[in-house]
Amino acid sequence: DISSTYSDPIHIAVIGGTGLQHLPGFTHVANLNVTTPWGMPSSPISVLHHPSPTSGKPIPIAFISRHGVHHELAPHEVPSRANIAALRSIGVRTIIAFSAVGSLKEEIKPRDFVVPDQVIDRTKGIRPFTFFEGGMVGHVGFADPFDEGLAKVIRTCGHSLEGDGVVLHDKGILVCMEGPQFSTRAESNLYRSWGGSVINMSCLPESKLAREAEISYQMICMATDYDCWHNSGDVSVEMVMGHMKANSQNALRFVGAVLNELSKEEHGEQVLAKHLDGQTKFAGAIT
Ligand code: ADE
Repeated sequence: DISSTYSDPIHIAVIGGTGLQHLPGFTHVANLNVTTPWGMPSSPISVLHHPSPTSGKPIPIAFISRHGVHHELAPHEVPSRANIAALRSIGVRTIIAFSAVGSLKEEIKPRDFVVPDQVIDRTKGIRPFTFFEGGMVGHVGFADPFDEGLAKVIRTCGHSLEGDGVVLHDKGILVCMEGPQFSTRAESNLYRSWGGSVINMSCLPESKLAREAEISYQMICMATDYDCWHNSGDVSVEMVMGHMKANSQNALRFVGAVLNELSKEEHGEQVLAKHLDGQTKFAGAIT
């Protein structure tokens, strides 16, 4: 009996990654099948109701499963332009993106969380990576790929769960590689020599497209392995899934705490206001 329409604008979205294909614990009120000029998103957009911590009025949250409902999309097959355009078209201005990552540093242990502040692009240019082409030319700044205001909220929420076993690293350089194969040992050591903290296959072009669409975006990473530089055994899919599954309660608690905080009026407005002050001509062309 889930509705296929939802009429109010939805400002906050979660993009779930490997091991976070659903967000249990929220009231599922609609499934939206949004089409965009860039195709269909990875999954229908689930609309979830989150009780507002202040007014008690439910706050709608949009949820997309990045790799599809049944994890059928490889990293290079994720339709990121459709995902971002679809979320923008229903009103989203803030995205919490979740991702399993390999650790490139001894102190970031499997099951630790990282809120990265920088990205190194090691994708190979085969993924459609911009909205600005075919006659519409635009160049957005990407010096700081994430939204620092959103990152602050997320870090505070993560630290508030430390007593419950959440370990959070406040900063880090995320290397985004093409995949779907994992890195060679030489590459893994090269990324370490560059100062890389964690590695995944999912942050790009997603975060670039969010910037073009003027959506505030922050990735929350959870380490699932030490990649292959470490002497504790090379990364495998079983290793990634095993740690993800074992720590999924903490991942959900973390995302829930962030949504709780963002749902408070002051943050919702703060995050939104920042973007309403920006140039909207590009985003206007996307929606
Ligand atoms: N995702 C999870 N672990 C990873 C790794 N070691 N390399 C790339 N992506 C990953």
